[in-house]
Amino acid sequence: MPNTVLVTQPLPDQYLARLAEHAELDVLDAGESLSDPALGTRRSACYGVVCTLTDTIDRALLKDMNMLKFVSSVSVGVDHIDVSALSVRGIALGNTPGVLADATADTAFALLLSAARRIAEGDRYIRDGKWTASNRWSPGFFLGKDVSGSTLGIVGLGPVGQAMARRAAGFGMTVASWTPSGRKVPGVCSLSLEALLATSDFVSVHVALADTTRNLINGARIATMKPGAVLINTARGGIVDESAVAAALDDGRLFAAGLDVFEEEPVPADSLLLKHPRVVVVPHIGSATASTRLKMADRAVVNAVAALRGEPMPYCVNPEVYAAL
Ligand code: DGY
Repeated sequence: MPNTVLVTQPLPDQYLARLAEHAELDVLDAGESLSDPALGTRRSACYGVVCTLTDTIDRALLKDMNMLKFVSSVSVGVDHIDVSALSVRGIALGNTPGVLADATADTAFALLLSAARRIAEGDRYIRDGKWTASNRWSPGFFLGKDVSGSTLGIVGLGPVGQAMARRAAGFGMTVASWTPSGRKVPGVCSLSLEALLATSDFVSVHVALADTTRNLINGARIATMKPGAVLINTARGGIVDESAVAAALDDGRLFAAGLDVFEEEPVPADSLLLKHPRVVVVPHIGSATASTRLKMADRAVVNAVAALRGEPMPYCVNPEVYAAL
């Protein structure tokens, strides 16, 4: 009997077909989730899991998954998974790097432009019937912030941060960065995080969420940002203190914010951020283009098929699990 792979969300048919050549597939229905208590025996029978960032895989969940040999996440971020809990049990974890940088940077730059030039706010203004004969073009009407000629500070210079830097150069921005790895890129000036926050007109966050980056952009750091700056986050919600962002918007320290990701997703309807007119929000759609999602599915299936063949995953987050092979 072939090994069973539990697939938490339906992938496009061609990818499911490729997986099905190597394993029996147990694809969850729309109403089911990996952590459902009712899924107990199906979880314990599975050899592999193909999941997404909406599936939390922690020690408690892993307890009854004694057959599990691999997890392949259709995401580049793996903060939804307890990686060390997998590693101690020799379970390989795959992700999907290298295919979503441009789509995510496009989203970040769209948020930057929208926040700077009040595009979403203007859209609401018209739809709400506020654009009237007495509220219309005047020299001071709907003033935004200049993008060209300003400084963009990039926090995290991985593939998405670098793609953001290329876009900013095209808009005539000065580009600075701080990155935990110390990586340097031509045309991008390296600064300390403190200097970057103090001097950037726009700050865009592109680090992965980890213990070292949780709450990195906290209240104390936001208070040191250049007055009137704009904060963009397309990385993960836990990196930015949301209540500090709301307070900084209220007191005018921040001009605006553009957010694709939130501490809790979906963002609660009563979030202070949603009440602020200068916050542009989108529902975690950084990588949401059809071609990017196909490439992510492809990477995830390549990883899963390698694991099913007993080979190392080509995009493996914890390659130390292969040390004993
Ligand atoms: C990822 O893959 O981690 C992204 O957040 C998906 O949009």
